[in-house]
Amino acid sequence: MRISIMTLFPEMCERVMEESIIGRARRAGKLQADCWQIRDYTLDKFGRVDDTPYGGGMGMLLQADPIYRCYEAVCQTAEKRPHVIFMSPQGKTLTQDRAFQLSRKEHLLLVCGHYEGVDQRVLDEIVDEELSIGDYVLTGGELAALVVADCVGRLCPGVLSDHTCFTEESHWNGLLEYPQYTRPAQWHDQGIPEVLLSGHHKNIEAWRHQRALENTWRKRPEMLEHANLSEADLKFLKELEQGEQICSQEDSSNEENLA
Ligand code: ADE
Repeated sequence: MRISIMTLFPEMCERVMEESIIGRARRAGKLQADCWQIRDYTLDKFGRVDDTPYGGGMGMLLQADPIYRCYEAVCQTAEKRPHVIFMSPQGKTLTQDRAFQLSRKEHLLLVCGHYEGVDQRVLDEIVDEELSIGDYVLTGGELAALVVADCVGRLCPGVLSDHTCFTEESHWNGLLEYPQYTRPAQWHDQGIPEVLLSGHHKNIEAWRHQRALENTWRKRPEMLEHANLSEADLKFLKELEQGEQICSQEDSSNEENLA
């Protein structure tokens, strides 16, 4: 897959994508990534790419033409038109599911806005979807584009090593991950759950699944509404809830006794 980023800060994006798993995947030829300087495509002799909004208002807007010409230059380097994503807090929020779907595309073009916004006409003409990374406003789309490049890039075939199985990660099956432990078995005053030393794979799997359910129930209970739960899972969650109720009843009666 190829990920192109159109931005006023290509060095910043390039620098981040040289590192770690994405950088290694690029060097190994498993992933292509390229950054495009929008300013290189302005016809203004002073290199300007922004102007004031019609109708008045605060701040400056990115002009349509440099973005369009940059987009055309990216398209000319590809056989097929890329899937164009405008990074914006107005877009749909990125999820693991969406990231996986995007990782199956041949070529993504992430367009980063800056200043107070972008001339709507160019967005209407070239953008396939708007994507947000969360309900907050950044100074530009670059950090958001890098989040998308990282999250989508690692899901591309061949990018993660075979033993890094993302189907067991948080958010993959609608549940958070179970807790994990590595050597030493005893650290400070803490050991590790006995079952993990048992070598009994079925029990370990069952334990992990229950911990994933419990983790999700404690930290992100709203995720359980959309998770694919079996009868046994529902029973386990009911028991957790009942256990918690008993604990809180005991706590409040202890408090009453103390009062
Ligand atoms: N640009 C500014 N804020 C953003 C956000 N939250 N997500 C995506 N792009 C953005």
